[in-house]
Amino acid sequence: MKTAIIGATGYGGIELIRLLSNHPSVEQIAVFSSSQQGVKMTDSYPHISERFFESLQDISIEALQGFDVIFLSTPPGVSAEWSSKLSAAAKVIDLSGDLRINDPAEYEKWYGRETASKEILNKAVYGLSEWNREQIKEAQIIANPGCYPTAVLLGMIPLVKSGAVDAATIIIDAKSGTTGAGRSASAMTHYSEMNDNLKIYKVNEHKHIPEIEQELAGFLNDTVTITLSTHLVPMTRGMMATMYASVPEGFDEQKIKEILESSYKNTPFVRVRPHKQMPSTREVNASNFCDIGWVYDERTKRLTLVSVIDNLVKGASGQAVQNMNIMFGLEETAGLNGLPVFP
Ligand SMILES: NC(=O)c1ccc[n+]([C@@H]2O[C@H](COP(=O)([O-])OP(=O)(O)OC[C@H]3O[C@@H](n4cnc5c(N)ncnc54)[C@H](OP(=O)(O)O)[C@@H]3O)[C@@H](O)[C@H]2O)c1
Repeated sequence: MKTAIIGATGYGGIELIRLLSNHPSVEQIAVFSSSQQGVKMTDSYPHISERFFESLQDISIEALQGFDVIFLSTPPGVSAEWSSKLSAAAKVIDLSGDLRINDPAEYEKWYGRETASKEILNKAVYGLSEWNREQIKEAQIIANPGCYPTAVLLGMIPLVKSGAVDAATIIIDAKSGTTGAGRSASAMTHYSEMNDNLKIYKVNEHKHIPEIEQELAGFLNDTVTITLSTHLVPMTRGMMATMYASVPEGFDEQKIKEILESSYKNTPFVRVRPHKQMPSTREVNASNFCDIGWVYDERTKRLTLVSVIDNLVKGASGQAVQNMNIMFGLEETAGLNGLPVFP
């Protein structure tokens, strides 16, 4: 496989390089940059010296010919412009939010910019690997899910789909490590602001809200509105979504267990824990796993569901590689077999 990464200098990009370098079918990883043409990747990232030798190339249609797959690990707005040009020549996997929201008005409201063309939005398949596998196999363009949506949807879809939670009562309290904000330093994320600190941000305004609502609505055949609170925690990688929802009459601990376990029994990366065994972010660190823990409270008839992922792996580049594997008929776990780094 010949692969290319646009936005290779960012955190999503360097994580793609790490994963693709260990992929048995990948023979080329070309790297592209809008600001550092001609610079060696190892100048920014010495930890890949003597293993990765490519220099950054200018982004142009001519230079991006001859690849099997092109990853866009870029800020909003870039793939809206580039994915239509690139998808004529290669399969495209977009890690940004540009192609995830089907309704242009919703995208414009939450992202504050114009969306991609209707044609591209229609072509793009939402790449939640476990739930859209059949469409991903046929896709030319993948809208790779956001990190919070991946954690939330993998936990909630089985329960919403089977009516085991009342979707109108879902409240999500989610926390992310600071790599979720990308490599550029900001007052929000730099060391003296984040160390020994816990911050809540974008209350009721996070761009991932419409994405989660859209995808849950598809499984419910009805509209869904959620409350999502996002926090930054003083750790580098990792994400935990703690979700609360009311459980309707007719469902109990045993039924919830059966629904969760049967939904993921044939999936290599989603691990459902036994009742009351809660996962921690370290237990999925640097891996493509999503671990789900849950507790049903008979007293309140509410479910607490906890989903943990590594935001840069299952929440971004790992799921992108999983989608590449599905699109090209490769083993779904190829390049993604590493165990979590613990402790
Ligand atoms: N970090 C996460 O946990 C995470 C999880 C899921 C999804 N995502 C999404 O993945 C994308 C990349 O995230 P990231 O964390 O890797 O961000 P990042 O560290 O800020 O990297 C983004 C890269 O995009 C490139 N870029 C900037 N402007 C560009 C332009 N106009 N044209 C082409 N390239 C441009 C930059 O590289 P050059 O200056 O070298 O071009 C930069 O290195 C974002 O859309 C983000 O929302 C991130």
